[in-house]
Amino acid sequence: MMRAVCPISETARLLLTLVLLVILQLAGQGSAVSPPPGSVTIDSLTFGGSGCPYDGVDYVLSEDLKAMTMKFTKFIATTHKSAAHRTRRCQISVNLSYPEGFAVGLGSVTFSGYAKLDRGVSGSIKAFYYFSGQAGTARITRKIQGPLDDNLEYRDGFGSALYSTCGSNKQTLSVGLEVTVKPGKKPKGAGGIIRVEALLNAWDLVWEQC
Ligand SMILES: *[C@@H]1O[C@H](CO)[C@@H](O)[C@H](O)[C@H]1NC(C)=O
Repeated sequence: MMRAVCPISETARLLLTLVLLVILQLAGQGSAVSPPPGSVTIDSLTFGGSGCPYDGVDYVLSEDLKAMTMKFTKFIATTHKSAAHRTRRCQISVNLSYPEGFAVGLGSVTFSGYAKLDRGVSGSIKAFYYFSGQAGTARITRKIQGPLDDNLEYRDGFGSALYSTCGSNKQTLSVGLEVTVKPGKKPKGAGGIIRVEALLNAWDLVWEQC
């Protein structure tokens, strides 16, 4: 199910497109099977969901300009508010155009966050990644258990698992994230939070010639 998306503003989109063009060009250099520099474009990037309201997302470029990080400032699942706050989600879609004769894949994405769970409290972090209209969704579920008070970092590497098929020059890459905290029964009042802080290396694209 698609959640409502709130498109980023035109200015932000333009800036992002320029920035991503730079990244994609650099990423394409030096590899025989990548599309030529400048031939890959991000047509749009949209995101939406309870974990990523428009004012709760930032983009940061790595120093070498090869990776983009999406930072989240309001992506917090907590037991300390109403039950609705125990789950927070974000759906991100990236529309890509590239030359014909290639299949596009996702290299890896690193999740970073923080969890503080009392004893008896559990949580889950779910991520899914797919190219729209293509068979195959990479789904990753991680469970965590209190007591815990620590930073979280997970790297999802896809190898050859997440490639589009040949025969197209456009793909929509979709990424979904969901974090949930489940209060424990005992001790009474036990609770916790899970915070999603960033997706590092988002849109680390890899290519195969068809
Ligand atoms: C992204 O691509 C899909 C499929 O081509 C299209 O339906 C959708 O409208 C596009 N989204 C945006 C924001 O351009």
